[in-house]
Amino acid sequence: MAALFLLLLSAPLFHCGSVSGPLKLEPLMLEEQLLWVNGQDFVSSYRIPLLTFTPKGSLLAFAEGRKMSRSDYGSKFIAMRRSTDKGATWSPMSFIADDDRSEQDGLNLGSVVVDMDVRRVILIYTMCFHLHGCSTSSTMMVESKDDGLSWGSPKNLSAQIGVKNFAPGPGTGIQKRHDPNKGRLVVCGHGTIEGDGVFCILSDDHGKTWSNGAALKSIPYNQKKRQQDFSPDECQPVEMPDGSIIVNVRNQNNYHCRCRVVARSRDGGMTLPIEDVFFDYELVDPVVAAGALQKEGVMYFINPSNEYKRVNLTLRWSLTDGNSWENNTVQIWAGPSGYSCMTSLDNSVIEDKKYIYIIYEKGHKDSDEAISFVKIHLFGGR
Ligand SMILES: *[C@@H]1O[C@H](CO)[C@@H](O)[C@H](O)[C@H]1NC(C)=O
Ligand SMILES: *[C@@H]1O[C@H](CO)[C@@H](O)[C@H](O)[C@H]1NC(C)=O
Ligand SMILES: *[C@@H]1O[C@H](CO)[C@@H](O)[C@H](O)[C@H]1NC(C)=O
Repeated sequence: MAALFLLLLSAPLFHCGSVSGPLKLEPLMLEEQLLWVNGQDFVSSYRIPLLTFTPKGSLLAFAEGRKMSRSDYGSKFIAMRRSTDKGATWSPMSFIADDDRSEQDGLNLGSVVVDMDVRRVILIYTMCFHLHGCSTSSTMMVESKDDGLSWGSPKNLSAQIGVKNFAPGPGTGIQKRHDPNKGRLVVCGHGTIEGDGVFCILSDDHGKTWSNGAALKSIPYNQKKRQQDFSPDECQPVEMPDGSIIVNVRNQNNYHCRCRVVARSRDGGMTLPIEDVFFDYELVDPVVAAGALQKEGVMYFINPSNEYKRVNLTLRWSLTDGNSWENNTVQIWAGPSGYSCMTSLDNSVIEDKKYIYIIYEKGHKDSDEAISFVKIHLFGGR
């Protein structure tokens, strides 16, 4: 028993080919539950789900509560639920921030990033992103020092990084675990519709100060777009085992393909060189925010896998750092499905090596009817 335990600790957990190891990578949907449903608590709709692990091994789920309408504009609050038992049960909803606006453009989520060095959870969101009835866009941050139980008051980062229109994520930011720039916080997002592109902000002091990093700008930049222009948009960064950062990006105007744009930074998020940008034809996409995750040498990707419609939420995985994808996939939901986000718990506990966790927008008629949580067993439930 002890020997098996040691073997499990030291050996990679997945095996492909004919040599069958102790556990074969065979993702299986184990549990699903709805965390928010439209109309619940008199809120018009819940959208833009984020999911993260915490330093203590809890899970935190976030969503925009759109008070009056389903629109991207308008008044909203940030809703959160917390699970301390790996997603089995969830706390009642708590409120992290409320924009208290009635007519004007309110807040929008967002990117959540965990700093393991100082054991804090940081949430970055935007105010007045669409400049709808307000004239200045701001990047805001709230943080929790107690594993998501309580949150400080929102801090305005615009004095440090400027008042540009920056919509973080939606998804997770990363803390670099490898060189270069080990320990750095990297949060990527996108710009306005005309001034679109992928932009990253960086912090080397655990979120105290932030600066502007990489910019992969749309073409033509700051000008009206047409179909098939290059317009990289909502994005999810992932750190690879070699310390580079892969950013998986929404291809807003279907430039070159109806599939995902992939960019890469080898300097800790300072640049996203055009030479490293490619189009992943296997990851067909209806223009949406998607999720990506790196765990134990396997890269996972989730999106509504359809060229035209937000349906068919599908989990894929790659044993080659995203250079190719396995032929097997897991369909999470055949019907309408929209934005999604993934996380996993710390790898130092055997039990935590077995699962990844997904949150996504789910519906029967439209994709934005509810926010659903899914627990995936990576090794066929064994
Ligand atoms: C954030 O700060 C900027 C300037 O530093 C200011 O223009 C903006 O109004 C502030 N935003 C909020 C929501 O307080
Ligand atoms: C769902 O996704 C799978 C995997 O990409 C694909 O083979 C299938 O055609 C898709 N179905 C629909 C209805 O989009
Ligand atoms: C996946 O399917 C393609 C086409 O059928 C085949 O060429 C390829 O070898 C398969 N890949 C794996 C890893 O099985």
